[in-house]
Amino acid sequence: MDLITWTEEMSVGVKALDDDHKMLIEMMNKLNDGILAGQSNLALEDVVESLVRYTRLHFAREERLFAQTGYPSSAAHKAEHDLMTRRILNLQMRFENGQSLELSMKAMAFLKNWLTHHILSSDMQYKSHLNAKGIH
Ligand SMILES: [Fe+2]
Ligand SMILES: [Fe+2]
Repeated sequence: MDLITWTEEMSVGVKALDDDHKMLIEMMNKLNDGILAGQSNLALEDVVESLVRYTRLHFAREERLFAQTGYPSSAAHKAEHDLMTRRILNLQMRFENGQSLELSMKAMAFLKNWLTHHILSSDMQYKSHLNAKGIH
């Protein structure tokens, strides 16, 4: 079963950003499935690497839109992205150092929580701003 399911209530009203969120969710589900199937950390390193890379790409895409449209909460939002980037890189490092299945499951629970919470609280706050600037 999927760890996370994208639902309409997660829509931030901008197609490219919704697509990013769906992609991140898909990657997390893939990683979770791999862990549950007992695949080794080594076998899953590429999935983790793609997740790290896509997370950074997505944060950069949001931040570019903030800069383009003069989003007032940009600094606080970017600080959240930076914190998340540090956490996910730290997690990648521990994963590459062979952390146990139990820790990996905890890590997945952490990823799930931050992604859904970030989308539903922080990302949702830019929805009306970006839509008002003609970005959908
Ligand atoms: Fe986002
Ligand atoms: Fe964000």
